[in-house]
Amino acid sequence: MKNTIRDFDFKDKTALVRVDFNVPIKDGKVTGDDRIIKAADTINFLVDAGAKVVLISHLGRPKGEYKEELSLAPVAKRASEILNKDVKFIASKEVVDDKVVEEVKNLKSGEIALLENLRFVKGEEANDKDFSKRLASLGDIFVNDAFGTAHRAHASNVGVAELLPSCVGFLVEKEVKYFDEALKNPERPFVAILGGAKVSDKIGVIEELLKKVDSLVIVGAMANTFLKSKGLEVGKSLVEDDKLDLAREIMAKAIENHVNLILPQDVIVAPELSEDSKGELKEVEDVDLEDMILDIGKESLEDIKNELESAKTVILNGPCGVFEIEEFSHGTIELAKILANIDATVIVGGGDSVAAVEKAGVEDKLTHISTGGGASLKMLEGKTLPGIEAVSDKE
Ligand code: 3PG
Repeated sequence: MKNTIRDFDFKDKTALVRVDFNVPIKDGKVTGDDRIIKAADTINFLVDAGAKVVLISHLGRPKGEYKEELSLAPVAKRASEILNKDVKFIASKEVVDDKVVEEVKNLKSGEIALLENLRFVKGEEANDKDFSKRLASLGDIFVNDAFGTAHRAHASNVGVAELLPSCVGFLVEKEVKYFDEALKNPERPFVAILGGAKVSDKIGVIEELLKKVDSLVIVGAMANTFLKSKGLEVGKSLVEDDKLDLAREIMAKAIENHVNLILPQDVIVAPELSEDSKGELKEVEDVDLEDMILDIGKESLEDIKNELESAKTVILNGPCGVFEIEEFSHGTIELAKILANIDATVIVGGGDSVAAVEKAGVEDKLTHISTGGGASLKMLEGKTLPGIEAVSDKE
């Protein structure tokens, strides 16, 4: 068990808080603030406990160089609005320099500051000792609440946790609890729905889930590789030809483990992927050389719905089709609506799935929507996350 923020007295202490504010920004404005909203409980708790709160985060992948468009300045502004409290942005291209140290020292209890994008410094991703030390010098207690980054071993999560008393924040605690409960002791039937582009991205997840679930539903372009491996034509669809044997092995493993593996029965095809393409419903046996599979059809949805009727635990990771284009979004959106209406613990992970449930307007009806993409995949693979591992265990 890891220390949590309830295990420390933060009065007049400086809490160095790693958050994942890697959020979409357009024209200098935050366009998706879910990760900021979900960090609010931890930040408010620390403010109420009388801490000086120093937030640290990365944004994008600037690879150790300053890039103005990846400054966290707009995030400080949005965080101030969400928290209804000033979040002072302490700007430095080096993230921590003497001036930053001084400004942090001058914070009063209950005040909040956000530092500049950690990835402007090469030492962050290298988990460099010196950079970790400079970050650690700012705080008395380290709080890791960046679930989305917990699968990375960087200076701001692993490095710092080795140098300061440490704990996890409410968001990390909650994310781990939902994934752990679902994976270690799921109420059954347990159904996993995996979608998205590639089998190769999710092979670790599939292998792990085959040991745990009662049913595994494969949708999205990933399913094309399975359909092709069964000898079906997939035309111009996205497919991984080098993973056909792997798909066959997975299907054999599912039979061996008594897992009900469900693939699409019908699909929406178009001659090409474009905003103007018109979709056509076809049985998977009728797909021809000129077709591109871009969504699942209504029979497939009905199959999944039947499977979900008795489900007690469901994990969704990845969309059913190209849901960004209206014409091919039906499967993904309808599936989200089905999930919103079943009596089961439903956990959604992965950026695309989160966007899809938001598009379907059902995010409030699902049990847990993870803030982690890569991190949630690692959890589903049954792997430990270095960012969380590094936090001290309870005495
Ligand atoms: C994410 O958005 O998945 C996290 O913030 C991690 O970002 P990264 O993949 O660039 O490390």
